[in-house]
Parts: sequence; C-alpha cells; structure tokens
Amino acid sequence: MKAVALKRYLPASNPESFLDLELPDPKPQGRELLVRVHAVSVNPVDTKLRSPKDKIEDPPRVLGWDASGVVEATGPDCKLFKRGDAVYYAGSIVRPGCDSELHVVDERIVGPKPKSLDDAQAAALPLTALTAHEALFDRCAIDPGGKHAGRTLLVINGAGGVGSIAIQLAKLAGLRVIATASRPESQEWCRKMGADHVINHRENIPQQLRDAGNPEVDYIFNTVDTSGYWDTMVEAIKPFGRIVSIVESSKPVELGKLMGKSASFSWELMFTRARFQTADMEEQHRILAQVAGWIDAGKLKTTLTETLSPINAANLRAAHAKVESGKMMGKLVLAGWR
Ligand SMILES: NC(=O)c1ccc[n+]([C@@H]2O[C@H](COP(=O)([O-])OP(=O)(O)OC[C@H]3O[C@@H](n4cnc5c(N)ncnc54)[C@H](OP(=O)(O)O)[C@@H]3O)[C@@H](O)[C@H]2O)c1
Repeated sequence: MKAVALKRYLPASNPESFLDLELPDPKPQGRELLVRVHAVSVNPVDTKLRSPKDKIEDPPRVLGWDASGVVEATGPDCKLFKRGDAVYYAGSIVRPGCDSELHVVDERIVGPKPKSLDDAQAAALPLTALTAHEALFDRCAIDPGGKHAGRTLLVINGAGGVGSIAIQLAKLAGLRVIATASRPESQEWCRKMGADHVINHRENIPQQLRDAGNPEVDYIFNTVDTSGYWDTMVEAIKPFGRIVSIVESSKPVELGKLMGKSASFSWELMFTRARFQTADMEEQHRILAQVAGWIDAGKLKTTLTETLSPINAANLRAAHAKVESGKMMGKLVLAGWR
C-alpha cells in the first residue's frame, strides 16, 4: 500500500520529514476493520509527535489520527460494520496512524460516515468531535438534550479545530457560548460556528467577561496551555462550575485555588478509551454515530476549511506547517491518493 511516513523527526520544512513509501498491507484481526482511506486530517497531535528529536524509525512510522474511507475487510469478530460501509474515525494513539491507503482500526472506535458529507468534510470531524463531545457531555456532565440550556460556556480558543465543533455542540445543548479569538477572521469564524459572543484572548479576559455582563461562567473549555490560562479560569468560573482542559500544562497549577468555589477541574484526552481499552470504549462508536446523525439532520456542520490533494508527503509537510503556525481556523484535510 501507499503510505506517507517518517524515518527521522525533522522540521516540516525539511523535504525528508515525510516520505512517500510502499509499506506492507495490514491485516485485520478480532474486531478490527481494514479501511481503504479516502481522506485524512492533520491535528496538533501529529505535529507534536513529529517535532524534531534524535530518533530513527525502522520500520518507518505512519502518523495521522482522523480518517474517512470505506471498509475493505473485517476481522472475524466484527459486529458493527461490513465490507463496503463508509466510515469515519480518529483511531488509537498506540497504533500506527491513518496516513496510508489501507489502515486497521478497532470497530468500537469507528462511526458510520455522515451521509450528507463528502470524504474530506467527514475526515475533518472525528478527533475534534470526540474530544469536544467527551469534554462537554462526559467531563462537564452537560446534558446534550437541553436540561442545562441557558447556562454559559467559555471556550478558550474558539476558532481552532476543537473549538469550532465545541461551540456547535454547546449550542445544540442550548448553552450560551462565549468564545475567544484574536483576529478579525478567527472572531468571525467563531460567530459562524454559533458563538453568541466573542472576546479576545490577547486582552484581559475577566474584564471582557464583566463588560459582556457575564463576570463568571458555568463551564470553561480550555484548548490552550493549561497553566497559561489557570488564574483566568479560576477567576472566571462560577461557584460549583466545571473546567475541562485538553492541553497539557507547561507549569504546575495550584488546584487549591478552585476550592473556595467548590469548582471542579477535569482532563479530557480523546485517546484514553482506546489506549486503555476501557470497558466503555464502544462509546466512541456511539458518539461518532450520534454526531453523524446530527450532521445529517442539519444540526451540526463540518468544520473543514481547506483541502489539499492528493495525500502525499509534500502535501502532508505543507499541512503540518499550517497547523504548526498556530493560526488554523477549523480543519485542514488531505484527500485522495495520487
Ligand atoms: N486532549 C485531547 O484529546 C485533545 C484533542 C484535540 C486537540 N488537543 C489539543 O488541543 C489544542 C488545540 O487543538 P486545535 O486542533 O483546536 O488547535 P488549532 O486548530 O491549531 O488552533 C488554532 C487556533 O489557536 C488559537 N490560538 C493561538 N494561540 C492562542 C493563545 N495563546 N490563546 C488562545 N488561542 C490561541 C488561534 O486563534 P487566534 O488566531 O484567533 O489567536 C487559532 O485559530 C492542541 O494543543 C491539541 O494538541 C487535545
């Protein structure tokens, strides 16, 4: 099969950072699907893993944790999908990624591709939708059915891949959403995703929240360095509020600062279920099926903003450089093989 892989960890500008290779076809076992990959997205996890270091990969390493495609074959124990089904999924961080023509993935973390989207539009969604869904509806216990409608959510970094779908999921649950963005175009994008109010994360956030008539919020979804926004989040969260963060902390944070407000803090890592093979790992199948249903019902829209074609090393290098710029709005996808 064709694959885009790395042997050395190099800057994306280096022509050797990704290589177009032929690798052996993988074979599905147990509950695994063999998927013919049609489109893949690039996330910051890819660029973090590719970051330069002294290590050689032999055999070469395939990255990529967002795909859409069609089931080519099924392992003997598969129950959810059959050959020919169109699927979309993020996959597992402890397995090879999906930047290859054929890819093996556990069916319990795969969803049926939204029927109303093409492959590129679908590949933009799984990793970020799983993250935002688990963060809002599991970690923060927000009811997607609207029981908490009217409560307020602050999304720190609303225009990025995760923020773009988090805003939409929170609106679907009836929340009032305040998103942060620093450029006119990223602010406009947040409004397009459904944000009720946009403030600037390069300026004083608590002051802007006071100006907006919301000095404190019920929930905070942080998608940037956790320690960098810690004191802001401590100040902005309501008593009994919930904060969820999806980004590691560059410095230790003082958890005790939340005690006075009896506020809680959770981590969300989309890869936890697959990595630890948790008993409820099939929830990710259910979440992706639910998101596909919401997309097809017109309740959510794809966050795709740019497609590069075909899927090859040159385009993957370009995609990594764009994601690393820190200026992504929505999602970037590579589609089709040469
Ligand atoms: N735990 C998990 O399961 C999980 C899952 C997915 C992603 N993540 C992590 O979550 C982070 C965000 O991912 P993403 O895909 O949403 O990123 P992204 O698409 O690359 O985010 C791009 C956006 O970041 C904003 N930004 C840049 N610097 C900022 C700052 N100092 N404060 C606030 N916003 C800033 C920019 O907005 P402006 O241009 O408007 O400033 C830009 O629009 C990454 O670190 C990623 O690894 C974790």
